[in-house]
Amino acid sequence: MKMVFLGPPGAGKGTMAVRVAEDAGLPHISTGDIFRYNIKNQTDLGKRVKSILDGGDLVPDELTIELVQDRLQQEDAQKGFILDGFPRTIPQADALATMQTLDWVINFELSDEEVLRRLTGRRVHPGSGRTYHIVSTPPKVEGKDDVTGEPLVQREDDKEEAIKNRLRVYRDQTQPLIDYYRSRDMLTNLDASSSPAAVYELLKELLGIS
Ligand code: AP5
Ligand code: ZN
Repeated sequence: MKMVFLGPPGAGKGTMAVRVAEDAGLPHISTGDIFRYNIKNQTDLGKRVKSILDGGDLVPDELTIELVQDRLQQEDAQKGFILDGFPRTIPQADALATMQTLDWVINFELSDEEVLRRLTGRRVHPGSGRTYHIVSTPPKVEGKDDVTGEPLVQREDDKEEAIKNRLRVYRDQTQPLIDYYRSRDMLTNLDASSSPAAVYELLKELLGIS
């Protein structure tokens, strides 16, 4: 199964992708996670994109497309994949269409109000990418990762100014993809507003995984 998770920042794409990846045995390919991994390890790529991510702007298409193209050529992606956070612009969607035939484009639908609530409450474990929310999915011990006990942090782009910019960027550059995929009869909307467990049930039913 080859699928794309589309939706505003904070809609729960990453949270659901981790679960589907595990249950369906597919690689979870998050461009945001790949960039953050490179920033953490101070690679050349990481140094190039750090200020872009911190401010909530988009990494240039050319760079992002090349990265995804390489990743999709790897062995584990041949049987299928979950693309989380790519494509995010029309040129990225056009490029992807030349590389792959998709089975699903799932559009996570969520109000701006709930997006804000989710992003401001998000905490992450930098080592693993595990994500918590201080209200809806809190860790067992406040401020600590459930598995390692290591400290949780707030993403740099989850600060208020960056969130506002990400929402603006989403509206300008990514929202047009909804029409792009709808007009190609490829879009499936998902109500992402209920609890993680309930959203996951909806998603499993849709995808036909048990
Ligand atoms: P990326 O990492 O993709 O960020 P994003 O799209 O802004 O999405 P998020 O990760 O913020 O949200 P999510 O939908 O994954 O939500 P999550 O599951 O964490 O990209 C970061 C940056 O990288 C971009 O700004 C850009 O600079 C760059 N980049 C990445 N891809 C790019 C591309 N293709 N082109 C150019 N640049 C690119 O959930 C959010 C919170 O809500 C968590 O706290 C979670 O615990 C909680 N939660 C989740 N589900 C529920 C639920 N059902 N109920 C209650 N709480 C929930
Ligand atoms: Zn994410």
